[in-house]
Amino acid sequence: MSDSTFIPVNEPLLDGKERQYLLECIDSGWISSEGPFVVQFEQEFAKKVGRKHGIAVSSGSAAIDVAVESLELKPGDEVIMPSFTIISCITQIIRSGLIPVLVDSDPNTWNMDATQIESKITSRTKAIMIVHIYGLPVDIDPVLDVAKSYDLKIIEDAAEMHGQTYRGKPCGSFGDISTFSFYPNKHITTGEGGMIVTDDNGLEEKCRSLRNLCFEQKKRFVHDRLGWNYRMTNMQAALGLAQMERLNEFIIRKREMGKLYEELLTKVENIQLPLNKTDYAENIYWVFGIVLNDKTKINAQTAMYSLGKKGIGTRPFFYPMHKQPILKKMGLFKGENYSIAENISQNGFYIPSGLAITKEQIICVANAVREVLQ
Ligand SMILES: Cc1ncc(COP(=O)(O)O)c(C=O)c1O
Repeated sequence: MSDSTFIPVNEPLLDGKERQYLLECIDSGWISSEGPFVVQFEQEFAKKVGRKHGIAVSSGSAAIDVAVESLELKPGDEVIMPSFTIISCITQIIRSGLIPVLVDSDPNTWNMDATQIESKITSRTKAIMIVHIYGLPVDIDPVLDVAKSYDLKIIEDAAEMHGQTYRGKPCGSFGDISTFSFYPNKHITTGEGGMIVTDDNGLEEKCRSLRNLCFEQKKRFVHDRLGWNYRMTNMQAALGLAQMERLNEFIIRKREMGKLYEELLTKVENIQLPLNKTDYAENIYWVFGIVLNDKTKINAQTAMYSLGKKGIGTRPFFYPMHKQPILKKMGLFKGENYSIAENISQNGFYIPSGLAITKEQIICVANAVREVLQ
């Protein structure tokens, strides 16, 4: 158990029907992926995002693996994606022999800069991976225009975007295939878990097969293709259903958190706070990030260390793909430079932003941030 005065970077809220639905799993004996909550969760989640199909999996990373594989791109095909994201976005691209092609971030939203995509297109480009970062969506319309002009597939990683919209339309409804994560720091959680959503019947069928070891219907243990056991259990889906019932309330809570942090921190000099809105979306504050500039008296690492000493949990921002040691070792991204991604990665971190955070805790965190940075 953690020290009761420590404010963790995230704490989920599990005080709805989670316990009741979990007990139903135990009482009925349905604890595997065969249980009825899985299909129910898939259907309700897909409906919420406005998609035909939902395929529940064991994590957001698993969802991306399956989504990328389901597109059946060929080795050497190129996929355009942001440098500033989590490693989960690139792993299956690399394992499938595809070539990741990076774009830099927008310094204001921290999302991939949609205006850079077209210049990265070659005759081998086959897909664009959109990744919505930290609470605001990517500016999607320009990406869709480019994808349409060049006949490219869209993979949309909406891991952090439950309940978010772009110009009024749900995030997760824009990709040929879109994915979500339900890790406990997400707006809704299943402990570990993920979801793939799509309107394409063929992709749905492939994803269902890939997440289930590509078992054949007729000859179960005879395989034509390699998949994964990425199934979600009935217990995870039980949690997910209970959480979904409260998604709208959770979004309101997160926006209130963001608003309060902004009010309390807006006068702190030499730091950048998240934009509370753009012309296409209002921030849902998956996390409340802070980026220091070069006039700040300490660097991000020292700030995180000092906040930790004051009992405040923090996390650094993502580390850009072009700087990842494992990817450099593979000879990728030689000589490439994405200065915005590097800057926000080096100078950014986020402060406690979970759903269970209280107003008093937010005030306490903001006071500590002020003390440390001023
Ligand atoms: C943008 C993004 N994509 C993918 C993932 C991976 O999700 P998971 O942790 O469920 O594997 C995360 C996790 O935080 C994420 O933020």
